[in-house]
Amino acid sequence: MLNDLKICLTILRRPEMQEKILFRNKVAKHLRDFLETENFADIETPILTKATPEGARDYLVPSRTNKGSFFALPQSPQLFKQLLMMSGFDRYYQIVRCFRDEDLRADRQPEFTQLDIETSFMDEEAIMSMMEKMIRGLFVKTLDVDLGDFPRMPYAEAMKRYGSDKPDLRVSIELIDVEDLLKDVEFKVFSGPANDDNGRVAAICVPGGAELSRKQIDQYTEYAGRYGAKGLAWVKVKEIGKGIEGVQSPIAKFLNNDIINEILVRTNAAAGDILLFGADSNRVVTDSLGALRLKVAEDRGLVEDAWRPLWVVDFPLLEWDEDSNRFHAMHHPFTSPKPGQLELLDTSPGAVKANAYDLVLNGNEIGGGSIRIHDKETQAIMFKHLGFTEEEARKQFGFLMDAFEYGAPPHGGIAFGLDRLVAILGGQETIRDFIAFPKNNSGRDVMIDAPAPIDEEQLNELNLKLNLK
Ligand code: AMO
Ligand code: AMP
Repeated sequence: MLNDLKICLTILRRPEMQEKILFRNKVAKHLRDFLETENFADIETPILTKATPEGARDYLVPSRTNKGSFFALPQSPQLFKQLLMMSGFDRYYQIVRCFRDEDLRADRQPEFTQLDIETSFMDEEAIMSMMEKMIRGLFVKTLDVDLGDFPRMPYAEAMKRYGSDKPDLRVSIELIDVEDLLKDVEFKVFSGPANDDNGRVAAICVPGGAELSRKQIDQYTEYAGRYGAKGLAWVKVKEIGKGIEGVQSPIAKFLNNDIINEILVRTNAAAGDILLFGADSNRVVTDSLGALRLKVAEDRGLVEDAWRPLWVVDFPLLEWDEDSNRFHAMHHPFTSPKPGQLELLDTSPGAVKANAYDLVLNGNEIGGGSIRIHDKETQAIMFKHLGFTEEEARKQFGFLMDAFEYGAPPHGGIAFGLDRLVAILGGQETIRDFIAFPKNNSGRDVMIDAPAPIDEEQLNELNLKLNLK
């Protein structure tokens, strides 16, 4: 432990680490200054609170004075900021710690910081353009980079072309659909999904990829396999317009000249390229080729050295969850459907679009928000579609439903992941480098050795008994 402490302090003392922590301060100051100038007020919200459904597990705190009851640490201040809008604070922000008990990754910590924002009387457009101005200003201030206008891309287009809801636009390789050409081929691996409404057959074209060895292709097949792909058919391009003669591929025999020529045209392939194919359910092909395009681009130096921000918009309101066999809110249950789409919830719930938007930068989701539901009836309909009984909704969110009764202004907002934003600006992959006291890969603070067991007396005081298996 003394050793861990020494290591942590040594790291913190390093000039490059000090620079990163002070850079974080500079970013936070710019964001604060911008929001204060726009008349946003910094208002604190509770840390000892009740579960709000952002989709991760809660960290729980036992209450000594209320036997058998627990507080949850906030996954976000979502409901409090909405209650602030209902109380007449029109512009709120907070740089606030959030807690999510989920698996750690390079861009995730169990406690992390959001720049959390909410406003009344501003629509989707107004919020996005104000936030765009804030982020553009931040890049000018910290990096002297002008990001220009952020393009907008509907969710469906992002999934189709890039296989991701956070497309990295620095990589130009796209997923190209080819199933219409492959419905009648003998190769069942292709014709099966090509004739299935739920299936997808698509290709990515890797410039210069014809030089890939068998072993490298096998490695990419294994990589795609992590996303469920059962194989990775490939076509190396030797010459354009020559049909089967012009390519080298284990599956060429299943295709004819016309099909091959058309695929080459559609994928914009050139001599020396390789096409990699996914054929499976829409989900598997989209996920696996979406991940593979990034992997191949990184391996082969095909990632543009640039800043490529975009807004992803027109998200579905609901997402089907195979495991629990029901719909989940794609953003959170307080997100409003697009105008006029409420009725669609009864007939085709999966088709309803949300008033939600994500800010994506170089393949990272740095922020996400939405226009909220602001009336009791719509919120009740939403809870019903998410599988809550009236009683459950009342128990968990009664205070919100009651607050609507006092009159709620139309409102919406967004939250940015401050750690991610700072790390990306600072040119690093991992957010830990920009956190003074981060948790390690198993969610522990090794410096102070937490979490730690507590003694019997404390357990008794909290009316808790351990049941360790
Ligand atoms: P969301 O869940 O999308 O939205 O979170 C907002 C942003 O927070 C960052 N983030 C994280 N950063 C580090 N570690 C984590 N574990 C982690 N989880 C999320 C991401 C993300 O874009 N209440 C809504 C916002 C709203 O609707 O206004 C919310 O929390 O960068
Ligand atoms: P097979 O018929 O299994 O010998 O596969 C022939 C080729 O198709 C191999 O290159 C496999 O990697 C590829 N393949 C098999 N299944 C799929 C799939 N679901 N999607 C894409 N390619 C596949």
